[in-house]
Amino acid sequence: MAGIIDVAIKRTIGTNSQIFGYAPDLSYDGDLADKLLDCSVGISNDYYEIFSGAEQLNSRLRLRSFLYNPDIYAKQVCAEHPAPSDFLSGLVSFSCRSNDSGPHVPAFALLHAGHKDSIAPLHFDWDMNWAINFNLFGRKVMTFFPPAAAWLLVPVINTSGFCYPRLAESEKIALAESLGGIRVELGPGEGVQFPSLWWHSAEYLDTTLSLSIRFGGPDWLRPLATLPRHWRLQRVAWAIWKRGRKHDSYPAIEACLRSVCMSEGWLARYNALAAECDAVLAGLDEEPGYGALWSAPFNAELACAAEALQSLYADPSGEYMEDEIRGVADYIFSARRFARPLETAAATRALSFRQGLPPKRGLLSPVGSR
Ligand SMILES: [Fe+2]
Repeated sequence: MAGIIDVAIKRTIGTNSQIFGYAPDLSYDGDLADKLLDCSVGISNDYYEIFSGAEQLNSRLRLRSFLYNPDIYAKQVCAEHPAPSDFLSGLVSFSCRSNDSGPHVPAFALLHAGHKDSIAPLHFDWDMNWAINFNLFGRKVMTFFPPAAAWLLVPVINTSGFCYPRLAESEKIALAESLGGIRVELGPGEGVQFPSLWWHSAEYLDTTLSLSIRFGGPDWLRPLATLPRHWRLQRVAWAIWKRGRKHDSYPAIEACLRSVCMSEGWLARYNALAAECDAVLAGLDEEPGYGALWSAPFNAELACAAEALQSLYADPSGEYMEDEIRGVADYIFSARRFARPLETAAATRALSFRQGLPPKRGLLSPVGSR
């Protein structure tokens, strides 16, 4: 069996048990990098285009053309492209498990590619999964910050208001040290596993091709993924995740859902969610520092991103069949059912805003047995 991929976890983030997961087993027959280079992918000017939903601006070309013409495409990145379905044909065995979700869990894979000096800005993902990100070739530095650092990272929705990867090296190190961040350099064949809910960024040291596999987040957090990404809600989700007591967390999850799904108007939803998150965090004895320094009269997120927030917190739109809504609700609320009107409202939001839905692209099916 040629070309078996050995996912080397160079450094699992945190050695304490509260952020512990299991890496997937993945065996591939053939040259995985060579296979992926023939794929057609979306290329963006930067990661912010992806976060702002501007996917239609992307151009598509062969990954090989993109990576082997650094002079032409120096300023573009393949930020997050679902692994194409023909990639699956080389999978000999794949399985993953998580301490959160049982022995075999759904997984999907994304491609990441860029040239020397490309970056992925500091952000957190909102899919509530573990991520393992490994390099097929090239080198990059990834930096991670815990959710509790959010209020000092100038959060704007799920990105940071300053561009961490463009700071001077000494500043990057100093900030990481003072906020509990971790910097990891990944070479070819090296990877790192982390909760994608943590803040993370990437700095490309070479032309680099990476694959990330998303898997096994706690299924009881799925309802929160239907709500707008918000740094306070990120803190709530992580506070619940790290405690691992899912039955104790349902009142907090229900309260956050109600604050958005049952409020009228985008600004009322935004304020209700923020207030509910503060109440939940205080109830969990999380550090209160963010509350003291985030003053109501001036809210930097509202000042910087009011237009984006209006669309994130808008009324759901579109007509959906009852069967479609129930199917989505069955996935979101698989761990625990809530009142039907709340489930319907959350599932409708998920369909309207296309977030928190079951993954459809880049799916990895467990094959073989190991
Ligand atoms: Fe990410």
